[in-house]
Amino acid sequence: MKTFDFGIVGLGVMGRNLLLNMADQKHAVAGLDLDAEKVLSLTQEANAQHQIKATTEVKEFLELLKQPRAIMVLVPAGKPVDTVIQSLLPYLDKGDILIDGGNTYFTDTDRRFTELSAKGIHFFGMGISGGEKGARFGPSLMPGGNKEAYERLRPIFESIAAKVDGEPCVEYLGNGSAGNYVKMAHNGIEYGIMQLISEVYDLMKRGYELDDTTIQKVFQDWNNTELQSYLIEITGHILKKTDTDGQKLINVISDWAKSKGTGKWTSQNGMDLEVPLPTIDAAVTMRNMSKNKPERILASAKLVWNAEQGNTDLPSAIEALKGALHFSILITYAQGLALLTKASQEYNYDLNLETISKIWRGGCIIRSVALEDFRKAYAKNGELKNILLDDTIAKAINDNQSSIRSTVQFAVQKGIPIAGLMNSLAYFDAYRSEKLPTNLIQAQRDYFGAHTYERIDTNGTFHTEWND
Ligand code: 6PG
Repeated sequence: MKTFDFGIVGLGVMGRNLLLNMADQKHAVAGLDLDAEKVLSLTQEANAQHQIKATTEVKEFLELLKQPRAIMVLVPAGKPVDTVIQSLLPYLDKGDILIDGGNTYFTDTDRRFTELSAKGIHFFGMGISGGEKGARFGPSLMPGGNKEAYERLRPIFESIAAKVDGEPCVEYLGNGSAGNYVKMAHNGIEYGIMQLISEVYDLMKRGYELDDTTIQKVFQDWNNTELQSYLIEITGHILKKTDTDGQKLINVISDWAKSKGTGKWTSQNGMDLEVPLPTIDAAVTMRNMSKNKPERILASAKLVWNAEQGNTDLPSAIEALKGALHFSILITYAQGLALLTKASQEYNYDLNLETISKIWRGGCIIRSVALEDFRKAYAKNGELKNILLDDTIAKAINDNQSSIRSTVQFAVQKGIPIAGLMNSLAYFDAYRSEKLPTNLIQAQRDYFGAHTYERIDTNGTFHTEWND
């Protein structure tokens, strides 16, 4: 046989949708899943124009594929990926390509990359963003691995990816685990923006006591402004949805949210690389806070704050919320992009931030109009240390400074938690401080631990006997 262009292992929703997307683009695609029902349902979904063959047999699947084979594994991250690789390995040939399309922790990809390279197999870790619909009709794809081997995959991936101004939202990103790392940072930014939107929603609902219809309209309108983005757009849709009894569905959804770990990994790795990500850290923390509902109920009765009632000019308050959100979203991107800049040096990924901004413009969860500004900023200056130093972004940030400050003041007065907004402002104020109070921390460390300190008036390290 050996006539099929591409193979997918794991025919869950993501695997099946990607495979159908490839078949729509006239690629002959083979699928493998041990579950016969999944194989059957894929076959039923395929149309007469599709060239699709699915099976439960590893050997049959591999016999279908053109050589060098290109196979994507779409199973839950962790042990299942290793199990699938082990099951395929005896039948693979040198030069074959394996792609892990899951949200895999980047060090796992590095390990697999090294092990498989030794056997002559090209291994790719590829971030895929856009959820089920994205997979079916145009995701953003973030592949990392061997640059030459990518040429075998390029036409297929470019044909199925989302397009912005005719440009596909996929590009080879870098060595080893670069693709998984970039996807992890994407998800960290995703966590930050989702947290910020939920805080602004809370300020409208509990702070300004706006009714549901007005709040929905505000988000819907904001999607026609500089805030235009996928996450703002879906927020407008979500707030519109009614339950079977005609009530807004959002009001009966519980206030604790699960997490699969990519946000936490971003924060953990930010700490490892000493890159400050306070908005993303706050988003992870607040998701954890949300999980502890019983304790929050206890505390809500005991730890009380009676907010003062004030007079509010609603139109200007909503305008301030918009500015605060815009400011904080830009700060969140800045943190995630700064992490990528540092990781590129640290792990030799050789990332190109212009390319990453480009492929995030469409298909992915954090797509927004801001990504085009970032792309332009990195095109102008590839060495940009932080996106906030670009003139266009700096102007947008400066224009919204008074909005974030008044919004934070309002929330503090009301006692409404806004860890994401506050941390965005704190990051900004620290980043733009030529002088921080860390001289005192140096002195304290030296006082209690003789850790020594550095001075501004002379070079070297110093220790003082503070008690003399
Ligand atoms: C995407 C999403 C996707 C997934 C998140 C959910 O880019 O399509 O990020 O990968 O929905 O991983 O993450 P949590 O379960 O941690 O919220």
